[in-house]
Amino acid sequence: MKGQRFYSQGEHHWFVLFDQGEQRVIDANVYALAVGDQTMLMDPGGAEVFNQVFGALMGVLPPGSVKAALVSHQDPDIASSLPLWNACNPRILWHVPKLWAGFIRHYGALEAYFHEIPDEGGDIDFAGRRLTLVPAHYLHSPANFHLYDPAAKVYFSGDVGAALLPPGHDAFIDRRDDDSPRAFDAHIQHAEYFHRRWMPSMEAKRDWCERVSKLDIDFLCPQHGAIYTGKNVERFIDWFADLPVGFGNWQQGH
Ligand SMILES: [Fe+2]
Ligand SMILES: [Fe+2]
Repeated sequence: MKGQRFYSQGEHHWFVLFDQGEQRVIDANVYALAVGDQTMLMDPGGAEVFNQVFGALMGVLPPGSVKAALVSHQDPDIASSLPLWNACNPRILWHVPKLWAGFIRHYGALEAYFHEIPDEGGDIDFAGRRLTLVPAHYLHSPANFHLYDPAAKVYFSGDVGAALLPPGHDAFIDRRDDDSPRAFDAHIQHAEYFHRRWMPSMEAKRDWCERVSKLDIDFLCPQHGAIYTGKNVERFIDWFADLPVGFGNWQQGH
């Protein structure tokens, strides 16, 4: 796994840890927001790849700087490493959906320090920066949150925007030819089945597309696959708005 910085302004930085070597578990990205000497992780990953994530993090930031983490929803590829991180530092503040808190404790670390996110989401403060926990319920989990950093224009989108890419993939969708949809079209083939199959609700999807299209986003960062930048952000939201998903739709074309 590699670490790459993609946003930097003064003491405010964003990193992506990506391209997992272990292929028996689903490939997942972990994002790290660093402000000064404090770091927050987005969806810190599965127990089986903890060593890889930790190693990649060490390449870019001191792991001891991790003070907070977001668990967007309950899945094992997101939260099963929680007890391992907590063993490193029991003072980490875990932002977890309130609805899932009692389930996530089944991964271990009963004493971990949880902020239970209410269904409506809302703003949090991290190292003096305002971040927004954006509700994205039923995309795919019934209690699910994304994170928006308005200063960096980074939107962490969890499983929305996920693509299942072969090993050795890049951190970004190629944007050298941003005016052409060619790179996006090639990329989105790896995302289509995932969205049809995993996203259960047309209504939730439409509502999300409407809300998120109003945000100013430079980087749309999914938990699997590659980051959407520039015009590919809008292309993705438009593509998702038109995609049939969920029950009665997912079988089409397969
Ligand atoms: Fe998931
Ligand atoms: Fe996932």
